[in-house]
Amino acid sequence: MPHSSQRDELLEARYGRQATPANIIWNDQIEALLAHRSVRAFTGEPLPDGALETITAAAQSASTSSNLHQWSLVAVSDPETKAELARLTRGRNFAGYDFVAEAPSVLLWVADMSRNHAISAAQGSEPVVTDYVDAFLMASVDAALAAQNGLVAAEAIGLGGVYLGSLRNHAKELAELIGLPKYAYVVFGMAIGTPDPSRPSAVRPRPPQSVVLHRERYHALPPEEWTEDYETAFKDFRAEYGLRDKTWSHAVAVGTSLDYMDGRENLRRTLEERGYLLG
Ligand SMILES: Cc1cc2nc3c(=O)[nH]c(=O)nc-3n(C[C@H](O)[C@H](O)[C@H](O)COP(=O)(O)O)c2cc1C
Repeated sequence: MPHSSQRDELLEARYGRQATPANIIWNDQIEALLAHRSVRAFTGEPLPDGALETITAAAQSASTSSNLHQWSLVAVSDPETKAELARLTRGRNFAGYDFVAEAPSVLLWVADMSRNHAISAAQGSEPVVTDYVDAFLMASVDAALAAQNGLVAAEAIGLGGVYLGSLRNHAKELAELIGLPKYAYVVFGMAIGTPDPSRPSAVRPRPPQSVVLHRERYHALPPEEWTEDYETAFKDFRAEYGLRDKTWSHAVAVGTSLDYMDGRENLRRTLEERGYLLG
């Protein structure tokens, strides 16, 4: 397929029938980014040799706050540990997490201040930053940037994956399962592997750019000006891929309810126990 029609199709998939930007500056890297889709069905093949190292090099190439490298990656391939991870991922709200055990590797992205805490303490310095919420944010942002570079790299070498924020539902148990030191917690997991071509995933539509892109100042678009079109894109996508019919607004309401937290309401306590005081 020539580039231009493939790229047009990508934009159409990304925005559905909503307004699509006509002036994207295309190249292969942009095309790969716009082709992202989460993968929750794997062939079962192990990761190719060098995949983990490639993902890690890409993750380490992300910017890192103050060059402090406050993240770590725990790559799990042991079947028993993966089964445990699948159990921890499945909450009240999400039944179908068998793919977590089936993925050849589950990457656990850790906000990790333990190394720098020790380095600082060894110099007789008082590492008080962990008392403050900014330290938690800094390490969590570092881990997220590393993870996203890692996922993009995985996709670039023919793998696919999906973030697993639901692992935070059991943050305490998870930290114990993988032996995390103090001043470290798992921000999210990521199941990765070779996408199963018989169960492909698809590019999911996003809201139009006018919702997220503000020029010079923030201009809130009233929801009634854009949600109807996004609901149509959302509905078309779900119908095309045989997903249960529901509205995006309903998903938002569910996703902002206490029921959705499913254990995450205890995260502050776990973080405090792990040394992040969030002051
Ligand atoms: C931080 C984060 C946590 C996520 N946690 C989960 C999860 O626990 N389970 C899941 O199935 N998908 C999870 N996802 C994937 C999102 O559902 C997905 O990115 C979103 O629906 C958009 O779909 P796409 O990635 O295919 O474009 C997570 C994504 C992010 C960024």
